[in-house]
Amino acid sequence: MKILVTGGAGFIGSNLSRKLVNEGHEVVVLDSLLRGNKLDKDTFAKVKFFKGDVRSKQLVLEASKGCDVIFHLAAVLGVDIVADNPVETMDVEVIGTRNVVEASETNNVKYILYASTSGIYSHSAIVKNALTEEVLVDPRTSYAMAKRYNEIYLASHHEERGINVISIRFFNVYGWNQDNRMVVPRFFEQCEDGEDITVFGSGEQTRDFTYIEDTIEACCKLIGIKGSHIVNIANESEWCISELASEIKSITKAKSNITYLDAPKKRYDYEVERRVGSSEKLFKLTNYKPDTELREGLQKIYEINYPKAIKN
Ligand SMILES: NC(=O)c1ccc[n+]([C@@H]2O[C@H](COP(=O)([O-])OP(=O)(O)OC[C@H]3O[C@@H](n4cnc5c(N)ncnc54)[C@H](O)[C@@H]3O)[C@@H](O)[C@H]2O)c1
Repeated sequence: MKILVTGGAGFIGSNLSRKLVNEGHEVVVLDSLLRGNKLDKDTFAKVKFFKGDVRSKQLVLEASKGCDVIFHLAAVLGVDIVADNPVETMDVEVIGTRNVVEASETNNVKYILYASTSGIYSHSAIVKNALTEEVLVDPRTSYAMAKRYNEIYLASHHEERGINVISIRFFNVYGWNQDNRMVVPRFFEQCEDGEDITVFGSGEQTRDFTYIEDTIEACCKLIGIKGSHIVNIANESEWCISELASEIKSITKAKSNITYLDAPKKRYDYEVERRVGSSEKLFKLTNYKPDTELREGLQKIYEINYPKAIKN
């Protein structure tokens, strides 16, 4: 297949593009390189690369020519970055997705897989111990609101035009190529630098951490599914942030202390006490669900990202 990955030079996009290339697909990447280029040399050499903004209608039209599938991942993210840039965050989401939809119509693209987020559940009540796609969502940030808007827009586009759409709700993906906007690499970095590990709030808030390889496997298995769907990709396990900090401290054998800070005001909307997802729907659609245990995933990325530390 010919597949366009917007945001393909980012954390998830670069891992996805590598896997798609290795599976023999023809891959096109469109990325502004806002966060640098995380594609490895081999993959970069094999993809057709468009450097630019997903808000450019012309560029998206050009990049998606002849494509069967679009993975639409380009976005502004990171709690502090989004809090400081709410308008740009929404702009990139809304205009970017509109361009992807319009280009898919013009170029007869059959499948759009869109990167939504578990962040849209926000304070939704957790039913039967995990968030399913049927739970009433409660988006509160510019980022989450725009993601939810796009989910509805894509679903209506399916109703009107018949294009196959999947909005994927990712749950705290972690793995190599991730930068320290996110909690896992930030804790690793603090341990490596011998600094305190800084946890916002009590540390008792929980999240569901999903390993990158499992996430990519699930994304690939969703290619070719017809209809309109919203699908969680979750590990179905709940870890509190202080446990995560202790685990990374133990893996790195760091002497760092774990310190607890009051979250800055701008982070309040993101502060959710519990988040754990169900991957039952994913399993029904693909016969696959993520299964890498957090400890195992952290150990793997430590070995890959920090080979020097391992030798010592
Ligand atoms: N990482 C997670 O845990 C997680 C969780 C939920 C949802 N998501 C979603 O998954 C997608 C990928 O996330 P990621 O973790 O790889 O983030 P990332 O920041 O590493 O990747 C996003 C990519 O989009 C590019 N980009 C940003 N603005 C752009 C623009 N205007 N035009 C073109 N490219 C632009 C960036 O340069 C970057 O390479 C995003 O849509 C994100 O909202 C990620």
